[in-house]
Amino acid sequence: GRIRHYKWDVKYEYKSPDCVKKLAITINGRSPGPTILAQQGDTIIVELTNSLGMENLAIHWHGIRQIGTPWSDGTEGVTQCPILPGDTFSYRFVVDRPGTYMYHAHYGMQRQAGLYGSIRVSVPDGVSEPFAYDYDRSIILNDWYHKSTYEQAAGLSSDPFVWVGEPQSLLIQGKGRFNCSKLTTLNLEPGVCNATNPECSPYTLTVVPGKTYRLRLTSITALSALSFQIEGHNMTVVEADGHYVEPFTVKNIFIYSGETYSILVKAEQDPSRNYWMTTSVVSRNSTTPPGLAHFNYYPNHPQRSPPTDPPAGPLWDAVEPRLAQSLAIKARQGYIYPPPATSDRIIVFLNTQNKIDGYTRWSVNNVSFTLPETPYLIALKESRGNAQHLFDQKPPPEGYNFTSYDIYSVANNTNATKSDSIYRLKFNTTVDIILQNANTLTNNNSETHPWHLHGHDFWVLGYGEGKFDINSDPARYNLVDPIMKNTVPVHRYGWTALRFVADNPGAWAFHCHIESHLYMGMGVVFEEGIEKVGKLPSQNMGCGITKGFWKP
Ligand code: C2O
Ligand code: CU
Repeated sequence: GRIRHYKWDVKYEYKSPDCVKKLAITINGRSPGPTILAQQGDTIIVELTNSLGMENLAIHWHGIRQIGTPWSDGTEGVTQCPILPGDTFSYRFVVDRPGTYMYHAHYGMQRQAGLYGSIRVSVPDGVSEPFAYDYDRSIILNDWYHKSTYEQAAGLSSDPFVWVGEPQSLLIQGKGRFNCSKLTTLNLEPGVCNATNPECSPYTLTVVPGKTYRLRLTSITALSALSFQIEGHNMTVVEADGHYVEPFTVKNIFIYSGETYSILVKAEQDPSRNYWMTTSVVSRNSTTPPGLAHFNYYPNHPQRSPPTDPPAGPLWDAVEPRLAQSLAIKARQGYIYPPPATSDRIIVFLNTQNKIDGYTRWSVNNVSFTLPETPYLIALKESRGNAQHLFDQKPPPEGYNFTSYDIYSVANNTNATKSDSIYRLKFNTTVDIILQNANTLTNNNSETHPWHLHGHDFWVLGYGEGKFDINSDPARYNLVDPIMKNTVPVHRYGWTALRFVADNPGAWAFHCHIESHLYMGMGVVFEEGIEKVGKLPSQNMGCGITKGFWKP
């Protein structure tokens, strides 16, 4: 493969993605950052300079497994020390599979300040994809807050707790539109909201009548689960998280933070007008208005508004269509890689919201995750087997009390704790994970959580409603043609079952992709084959036990 070398300068700049001016994190002046375009087998080198001035930095390459390069995963606290202001860090990794991926900040809650972008990996020369299209486009969906990341993070770790609330806008490829007349309540200075700023004119996708477009949809939302649709057009789903899907056609697609989909859309409607592309929040009774963009038939003017009202999205609280979409996703015929028939270990993760020492937290089996001072990869490699004092060595729980726990009631987890302990997996073993959803601290409320695994893809064996039953539900697993993914939703009061092979030496985060949920402890870390990890680059060090470590 080729080497693709990027030099990125990351800094804060005033941006108006939704017409409201605020400090956003940019890469070479842009948010979303540049799209990485590569071919399977290429080596990506990103030389990243932290020009944020007062904030640390790390960037994660979401969906790239980092086989043999666990130190390039970019997960601060797990695989590296933060990149300090003024420092430069070189990420180097191979994109070994075609598909649609993303990158984003993985330090604190920095992702939602605008540090994100698309990665598109094409098939090698001479290989063709199992579907045809004329043009290939990337569209990132995001939600957007007017408060700074700092203010949000501080609120989440306060007592009394200050929730981040619903986002102010939804962005399609970095553009949204806040209604400036609503700003008075926020008491902002005049001129801060400018509806005529070209920076916030709607994103337009110009299409040529009769042509077929592959749209690579990515959701990088901080909080929201989304539905996306194109007025008057069907879309055919053909790829999910880098894997070919047995095609199915929908009017709207549900997409959760951390997921990617390729959809095929044919420009076959009346070409004398433009159409809306819309995205709206589902799963939460959100106050956030839909995000709008133009599906522009050439040669109409790209900024000409469609003559119709934007189509209403699906009902926010209808779980059935969302579960139905999850169940409709199967591996494509001819591209089926069945999972091992059995697993060596089953871990059940009960997702609950808890109060710990008066603070609101998220927990997995009553343990709310915290990061240690020394990132795990460094702790495990550099302490020469003497990591006892670097993180909690007691293995975290493999499950919860299935018989007595009522997933429909407000949790009464008086024994919830915080911990930085991790799951040690035997190298090359097959592991099943059952994610079990439950009630939050609010009566009759359960939330959707998109869980993302670093360093691997997993097979999605099944979804179900209610409490997972270890005696009967595994018999319903799809072991024939399950899709592989790296991010998967756990629906309200439901469960999701995954299987993966622990064959990638390193330390890997597995967490809810909702920015505030991870910040509040909704995650775990897996370690496997640590003795097979090569020598860590010195640039990963400089914190914890490697504090003051000299860097060349
Ligand atoms: Cu895209 Cu650890 O996340
Ligand atoms: Cu969550």
